[in-house]
Amino acid sequence: MAAYAEMSREELTTLRNSLLEEYESFKAQGLKLDMSRGKPGADQLDISNDLLTMVTSIEESKINGTDTRNYGGLDGLPEMKKIFADMLGVDTNEVIVGGNSSLNMMYDTVARAMLFGIMGSTPWSKLEKVKFLCPVPGYDRHFTICQTFGIEMIPVEMNADGPDMDVVEKLVSEDSAIKGIWCVPKYSNPGGITYSDDVVCRFANLKPAAEDFRIFWDNAYVVHDLYDVSDPLLNILDECRKAGNEDMCYIFASTSKVTFPGAGVAVMAGSASNMEATRKLMTFQTIGPDKVNQLRHIRFLKDLDGVRAHMKKHAAIIRPKFEIVLNTLEKELAGIGIAEWHKPNGGYFVSLDVYPGCAKKVHALLKDAGVVMTGAGATFPYGNDPKDRNLRIAPTFPTVSELEIAVKMLCLCVKLTAVEKILEK
Ligand SMILES: Cc1ncc(COP(=O)(O)O)c(C=O)c1O
Repeated sequence: MAAYAEMSREELTTLRNSLLEEYESFKAQGLKLDMSRGKPGADQLDISNDLLTMVTSIEESKINGTDTRNYGGLDGLPEMKKIFADMLGVDTNEVIVGGNSSLNMMYDTVARAMLFGIMGSTPWSKLEKVKFLCPVPGYDRHFTICQTFGIEMIPVEMNADGPDMDVVEKLVSEDSAIKGIWCVPKYSNPGGITYSDDVVCRFANLKPAAEDFRIFWDNAYVVHDLYDVSDPLLNILDECRKAGNEDMCYIFASTSKVTFPGAGVAVMAGSASNMEATRKLMTFQTIGPDKVNQLRHIRFLKDLDGVRAHMKKHAAIIRPKFEIVLNTLEKELAGIGIAEWHKPNGGYFVSLDVYPGCAKKVHALLKDAGVVMTGAGATFPYGNDPKDRNLRIAPTFPTVSELEIAVKMLCLCVKLTAVEKILEK
């Protein structure tokens, strides 16, 4: 099919009428499909069911002399620290194991900085203004953390290999109110982009105006490959150390999408001094995390090889779903000049940029026809996508047959809104 921009008004009108007819017949089917949140499907949860029987007796609740039922172990069981340290390529004294949510650890990290500052700096809440850089499109819940604390968000464009580092370097070095940046460096949410070596090195070599500037390196998809070959990602802590900036990054991850999102284990990591400062403040927050659940994970996953073998099972389940999305986008939308997307090698999302000014309309049309997607704009700070282009597709939760219909429907709405927009001109 020809690019829409090259079609005559007459051709576009005919096309619009036939797309509209197709849309109405889909709508009449009364669909009820959900592509909104990046949740594992029930079949993915089922591959971790053995976790539930890993600790069933008093004897099984002990490991190397520790009774996991009791208080203590502020920063996690050593065996759980080892699994996470290997996963993130850091030392065990550079990790703190938390509860079940890395997002919670990110929130707490920002909250501690607001209340107490970082390593002796002025508490952020006492400053006139605190700003974070937010690569866009990005993860909505990072943005809502900032919003909750009144932190001003500055969007930074994502390139094909990570955030636009010219902009990041300039802003971070010039403005001491900029205290952080959110990064999802591997299989980013939602773009599925992995940061290049150059981008990671430029991050590590930043020269922030703020002494307490931190990179919030949310490595949520560190082991979440769809294929046998993983996108390579440089180790941010190593690179920061080489650059003499070892305290500049906080790293986060979890087993939410390895085992159970509702009952996984989360981690934060960073330089030994960052972790020491964090532990000191955590002492007043908790006597210790859920060690029984850590022990379940230690027994179930065993080590990094165990994690990788388990992730292959996830990949086998979700790869066909990603392929349905990508093949349908290719078949329906390639070559007509109205949409762009990136083929991710891992993670949980496909990010779709539709014709400018159409994302909200696509979302609304889909909703009217019974297909729920993440709200248009959610991938931008304050829900404001200035070009109204980006939509996030989350392929994992629907079944294969539901997904087939939902993505077809999505493509139909993308085409219909684009034709209408072009005809408006
Ligand atoms: C980038 C990113 N970080 C964090 C999370 C949530 O992690 P957790 O379940 O460990 O809180 C998600 C979930 O979708 C995510 O996409």
